[in-house]
Amino acid sequence: MRDKYILAVDDSRTNLQIIRGILEGTYTLMLAISGETALKYIDRRRPDLILLDLMMPGMSGRETYAEIRKKPGCGEIPVIFLTASRDEDLEVECLNMGATDFIAKPIVAEILERRIERALMPADIRKEMSGELKEKSAEIERLSLQAVGAIAQALEARDPMTRGHSLRVAECSRAIAEEMDFSPETVEQIYQTAMLHDVGKIGIPDSILKKEGRLTPEEYKSIKEHTTIGANILGAISSIGYLEDGARYHHERYDGNGYPRGLRGREIPVVGRIIAVADVFDALVSRRYYKTRMDREAARKEILSGAGTQFDPEIVSVFIRLLDIGKIPDYSGDGDPDPADADSGGRPGDQGSDRGRHERRQK
Ligand SMILES: [Fe+2]
Repeated sequence: MRDKYILAVDDSRTNLQIIRGILEGTYTLMLAISGETALKYIDRRRPDLILLDLMMPGMSGRETYAEIRKKPGCGEIPVIFLTASRDEDLEVECLNMGATDFIAKPIVAEILERRIERALMPADIRKEMSGELKEKSAEIERLSLQAVGAIAQALEARDPMTRGHSLRVAECSRAIAEEMDFSPETVEQIYQTAMLHDVGKIGIPDSILKKEGRLTPEEYKSIKEHTTIGANILGAISSIGYLEDGARYHHERYDGNGYPRGLRGREIPVVGRIIAVADVFDALVSRRYYKTRMDREAARKEILSGAGTQFDPEIVSVFIRLLDIGKIPDYSGDGDPDPADADSGGRPGDQGSDRGRHERRQK
């Protein structure tokens, strides 16, 4: 690397010394205390890379950059801006100007070294690496989804009564999201999120999940925890940041009386509001340990009556429209629609889909 020549430009001698301390011995260095000096050095020898302080008295980093680019043969030299500011707009502006990179001060040795190594790579290799990185992260996302999908399957295998519930809720949520004109990428994320909304039930004992009678207050409290348990499981998958909201918020209610946080209206992430409708409808038209199946017309009425209280009225109207034009599949001929949702479709005391069970049982 000694053959690579780096020009560092900064009005602070301390910063220049720091840069020298990090890079000396690895690269050939030239240190300039101002933009004007830097331009003179460049006339003498063309650097392979320039570290350029953005905020300098006299000729600013921006002006120096513009002058460098005007020099013959200097249009493609990688330039990394250095600045104390953490302003994102500034960062975007630098990158838009054509800067290769942007490093915030104080300078961290490892970051400086890695960024320089990367900037010095031939452009085609850099491009190839970023393509590979994209592929790798897509692969990680696929594998992570497979892993959590396996947990969801394990959950449904545990309880024949809820088999298929997650898939139906996911498909219904996807239909609603499409109708709401979300981008295809967001629709897919909502689908995946809905598929895993009840994953936290893995942490709830069978004696509660499969209980046929009313839940005691303690049991009900325990079942409510599936939202937080699920969110914690999914939140641990750092490669996919969007999954946990479905698990956490699908039992929130529009009027603020849901759980776990008691959020109200649009405070509830939209994915939670969508899944809430899909989840309750599926639970209503499914058989559960504690209730028989409700017919679709009655379930339609039940969902409509919850608009503005339990559910987001806008999402209810989208759902009802889809239902009325036959876009919500009728699974009532299937075997045992899922009770995996011990909490969906009305469990004692549930504020969400479990609520019905509670109320109906009380009658
Ligand atoms: Fe649930």
